[in-house]
Amino acid sequence: MNNIDARTHVRGASVYLDDIPLINGTLFGAAFGSPVAHGRVNSLDVAAAAQMPGVVRVFTYKDITGENQIGGIIPDEPLFAEQETHFCGMPLAFVVATSVDAARAAVKKIQADITPLPVITDPREAQAKGELIIPPRTFRLGDTANAWQQCAHIFEGRADTNGQEHLYIETQGAYAVPQENEVIRIYSSTQGPTAVQRAVSKALGLPMHQLDVEVTRLGGGFGGKEDQANTWAALCALAAHHLKKPVKYALHRMEDIAMTGKRHPYSSDFKIGLDADLKIIAYEVTFYQNAGAAADLSPAVLERTLFHCTNSYFIPHVTATAYSCRTHLPPNTAFRGFGGPQGMFVIEAAIAKAATALGVPASAIQQQNLHHTGDTFPYGQLAQSEAPACWQKAEELYDAAAIRQSIHDFNVANTLYKKGMAFMPVCFGISFTKTLMNQARALVHVYTDGSVSISTGAVEMGQGVNTKILQVAARAFSIPPERIRIQPTSTFRIANTSPSAASATADLNGKATWMACQAIMERLKQVAAEALQTDTAAITLQDEQVFVHGKASGWDWKKLLMAAYVKRVNLSEHAHYATPGIHFDTSREKGHPFAYHVYGAAIVEVTVDCLRGTYTIDAVKVVHDYGASMNPAIDQGQMEGGIVQGIGWMTMEEVIYDAEGRLRSNALSTYKVPDIYAVPKTIQLQALDTRQDNLAIFRSKAVGEPPLMYGIGAWFALRDAILAFHPAADIPFSAPMTPEKVLMALYSKNGTPAPHAKTVDHLAVDK
Ligand code: MTE
Ligand code: HPA
Ligand code: MOS
Repeated sequence: MNNIDARTHVRGASVYLDDIPLINGTLFGAAFGSPVAHGRVNSLDVAAAAQMPGVVRVFTYKDITGENQIGGIIPDEPLFAEQETHFCGMPLAFVVATSVDAARAAVKKIQADITPLPVITDPREAQAKGELIIPPRTFRLGDTANAWQQCAHIFEGRADTNGQEHLYIETQGAYAVPQENEVIRIYSSTQGPTAVQRAVSKALGLPMHQLDVEVTRLGGGFGGKEDQANTWAALCALAAHHLKKPVKYALHRMEDIAMTGKRHPYSSDFKIGLDADLKIIAYEVTFYQNAGAAADLSPAVLERTLFHCTNSYFIPHVTATAYSCRTHLPPNTAFRGFGGPQGMFVIEAAIAKAATALGVPASAIQQQNLHHTGDTFPYGQLAQSEAPACWQKAEELYDAAAIRQSIHDFNVANTLYKKGMAFMPVCFGISFTKTLMNQARALVHVYTDGSVSISTGAVEMGQGVNTKILQVAARAFSIPPERIRIQPTSTFRIANTSPSAASATADLNGKATWMACQAIMERLKQVAAEALQTDTAAITLQDEQVFVHGKASGWDWKKLLMAAYVKRVNLSEHAHYATPGIHFDTSREKGHPFAYHVYGAAIVEVTVDCLRGTYTIDAVKVVHDYGASMNPAIDQGQMEGGIVQGIGWMTMEEVIYDAEGRLRSNALSTYKVPDIYAVPKTIQLQALDTRQDNLAIFRSKAVGEPPLMYGIGAWFALRDAILAFHPAADIPFSAPMTPEKVLMALYSKNGTPAPHAKTVDHLAVDK
């Protein structure tokens, strides 16, 4: 089935926040963000701004009617800075004016007198100074301290991954419209309508039943709108509440990039021990997460880093410790993979280091340490593993031996260009790591004309969840998709929702939808059984026709509905789904947190230009465990998008803050994301057919986040190519692998000099 949004997308008719028709009298907001990352606010002069033409009012913390607090997990994040600023871009004031231009012009007139205080941007420095968001956490399996004796080889090192800008095409924003009796309707570009509702409720001091948060769709979220849509919604709602006028704020791209948090940069130390047969015996890792200035979702992201720190491998002795470090960057937040990718990069770095030192291909270590069904994860859950199957199928289907040989031959024949490859296995746990968040509700109405309306907590952000939910209802009722509409997500229709995140949206909301449809179907079958004088077990519905013992009865969907209505049978249902069987005990750091895991293996091939340090990603060849995909076209889109986004993070996207905590890569001229030239020349996807029972909707496994992590293979393939040019190259485990870093590694003076370096210098001069 096609994505139900395709038609309106290509015609430009899909409605995003900025497309909502404005109500007469709408005012426009713009935030004034702190120019100083860490400082004492001596004074804030908004008088000149307030005098500007069109300005209606300038709001500061003094205007807050509830609590000056929007922290989700920990109440450590003021909406407006008061006496101190904690990051560049932290809102100090919110100007509301009769036009967007007037609001922005007035923002420029605000004067803040701020005494700078010491700025921390490095997580290790923050940890050393005791600046932690939460106490450190440690996951343990076996006993690493005693395991080192069993190891023939031990390697230690450091690995760093940088942040990543979400770059959703639609920027953050909100539009707050006052209704009667102090109700406020808030259109928000958010993954978490309930998160917005809660944050606004707290900041304004209004009960949640007065706050209707409505979302039609997002132009992308990628985790960046799980918590960070709250700020803009709260600012608009506060102004609307005071002024009794609709207030809208859609951020400019540069405001958005500068004021919002990104993927967490991590700095990590590892120690890995292997026996003589290359079995990994022990692994110790310490993660320093750069949380930024407030908790936001950092504790949950930290937790997922620990959950995924051994990726697809079974390691009998593991000690993994993680620190969430408070710095003066904008609060970092959810981003596709949610800390998982940061954990996986480190174990892959440890394996790569061991492989190079031992003179074996990394894949030799990777493959033989993949976990099998029944192996235990460091957090106690037992694996239902597809890791060896994915790997084996990838190796055979794509003929890894032939790829390796042709890369070898190419590298022998070429001096200026070198090819490299890497395997990247992925194992990703599906469920919110916080057990309580794994619940969802659906409200299904069947109308007497045969049409069906569905509301859930799911937010459509391009990932196709609405199409999947529609497929669930179409299958449950056996009616064509045209009969079904998915309604905008609204906190008045569906309450207490979890954000659309953790790749679990279709599973959770789809199952709730299925349950609601089934309940209605049971009642309809009873009506049919009575009317057709049989028992309900004999009744089936197929393609809008009612069958008795498999024989057409002459009744159809519409006739049945009308009969049910006349008999005063309920044609609506509100269903609740909570993932069964999951639990986690944080005091022991053990449990069964995930409904299931998604597996896969990718082979990534690259070519490096050894004169320039530039490179191409030649191929990404994947075997992926979709379960039984309910929508292969949508899942393919998720795979391709995720892979490219992962490659971007690992290779070219470079978030740079200066020592004063100011973002230097604050525009698309200075922050490079993959374009059509940077994407892999070929992406090949093959499904591993797994039909085991699992908790996925229709056994169609979650697909949103896992593919991003195949992109990590690009980093290691580049490393492989560099080593082909200069076997003793000094290549710090530091992502992204920009062309600058490639060039420095190619000509690094570490160890033996690059055998080809002379030749290349000579050629360069000759040219
Ligand atoms: N795909 C598109 N097109 N746009 C997005 O914003 N977000 C990703 C992923 N794929 C995203 C996307 C993230 S971070 C998650 S958690 C999942 O989609 C969320 O949707 P799902 O739970 O329906 O998979
Ligand atoms: N994944 C994504 N988002 C989340 C999670 C998670 O595990 N927990 C809380 N928010
Ligand atoms: Mo995705 S990072 O869980 O929104």
